[in-house]
Amino acid sequence: MKLTMVAGSPHGLSGFGGKMAAIIEDRLRRQGIALETFALADMSIRTCAGCYVCCKKGACIFDDDWQAVYDAMLGADGFIWMAPNYTFNVPAEMKAFIDRGFSNMHLQLLKGKYALPVITSGSWVLEDALDYLSKTLHRNGCWVVDRIGISMAEWAMVQEEKRAQLLAGVDRLVAAIAGQRIFEDQVESLKEMFEMWRAYLSHFKDEYPHECQSWIRRWPDAPLDEG
Ligand SMILES: Cc1cc2nc3c(=O)[nH]c(=O)nc-3n(C[C@H](O)[C@H](O)[C@H](O)COP(=O)(O)O)c2cc1C
Repeated sequence: MKLTMVAGSPHGLSGFGGKMAAIIEDRLRRQGIALETFALADMSIRTCAGCYVCCKKGACIFDDDWQAVYDAMLGADGFIWMAPNYTFNVPAEMKAFIDRGFSNMHLQLLKGKYALPVITSGSWVLEDALDYLSKTLHRNGCWVVDRIGISMAEWAMVQEEKRAQLLAGVDRLVAAIAGQRIFEDQVESLKEMFEMWRAYLSHFKDEYPHECQSWIRRWPDAPLDEG
């Protein structure tokens, strides 16, 4: 089993998120599971220019580290996205990483992968950020195996409880991959999302020729609408 972790804190792995990453890594290492971790702050990932060249031609105008991280996710059985709560969302590093996957989300390239979102936070008011990360994974076609929110305040007060929650999330990710689990409560919304992207691209054949050709090759059983 191969897993990837994307860590989106501006502190890389040297802050609170880094501490959580070490706990995750340790849990997986003990089970002999390979984990590749990418700290976005230590990489060069430009913010999306909004040019739509990825949709039209298939390649981003920026040749930076983004593709390597995305390729690692594509090659993995599952992944962990971890980011700090920054004003009820994720920090710019994580948002840039997600935005750059815009075209691949349309193409549902991560469909069927298993994912665990983790939000770290100062306070325990972190649901908005966790929702954003979870929904984004789901809209990329992933099974979201759990939702983990860990605040520094709770870590100071109930550390063992929060550690157990984090480890349970990691174990759930591993078990879901091992059993190729179908999360019944996500089946319908994943189907709806897939159909939404199919219908969306059917309307944008002229504008996004690359995406439409890629969809046809990737999803021969879900043809785009005629006309
Ligand atoms: C610009 C900024 C915005 C933040 N917004 C929030 C917030 O809305 N709610 C909260 O509980 N913590 C907030 N925090 C605290 C961070 O979530 C917390 O410091 C982070 O999770 C620690 O992880 P790190 O050391 O790996 O970066 C914010 C911190 C910064 C610097």
